[in-house]
Amino acid sequence: MFITFEGPEGSGKSTQILKLKERLINHGKKAINTFEPGGTSLGKEIRNLLLHSIDMSEVSELLLYAADRAEHVRQIIKPALKDDIVVISDRYYHSTLAYQGYGRNIDLSLIKKIMEIAISGVEPDIIFLIDVPVELGFERIQSSGRQKDRIEKEKIEFHRSIRNGYLDMAKSDKRFIILDGMDSIDNIHQKIWGELNLCW
Ligand code: TMP
Repeated sequence: MFITFEGPEGSGKSTQILKLKERLINHGKKAINTFEPGGTSLGKEIRNLLLHSIDMSEVSELLLYAADRAEHVRQIIKPALKDDIVVISDRYYHSTLAYQGYGRNIDLSLIKKIMEIAISGVEPDIIFLIDVPVELGFERIQSSGRQKDRIEKEKIEFHRSIRNGYLDMAKSDKRFIILDGMDSIDNIHQKIWGELNLCW
């Protein structure tokens, strides 16, 4: 099973992913967690370019996310799925549709074509979208005390388009499960677990 987590900045994906992986393992399942961008050695270099380098064109940004994903699929995701390991990824191609599509206004059908090459048929079975108001996500980042990266530094309107983009995609794709990111960590976790029990 391939599970992805999506959401705007500061939605709490990482916390939920770790809790889910731990519970799956306690349940006797083989599971790994991974992330984009940066889940491979090449990906780490690409992540650094994307999030910490000087400015770049929107097209370069799109293609770098695609390159990171191509590597991630081939090195990590596909081999693990072949070994019947549950793969949980912090972001996948719906992030590109949300950020580069709805956020940067790059044509969605063009992005989908590029994504086809990158993912080579590896589709998520279930997509957990942790939805939070943009302001709350940024309050969380601020209180964590870490510096904002290149994408997080974008204007609030950019981040609002991303959140709306996710909600829009979720309307037409039954694999999306929307979770209220303002709910408690435990409640969100229980909802995720309940959804997965329905699939197994
Ligand atoms: P992270 O903070 O969740 O690790 O994600 C890194 C940043 O990259 C985050 O701001 C979202 C952004 N991003 C895109 O813009 N497009 C993508 O395809 C992916 C995977 C992430």
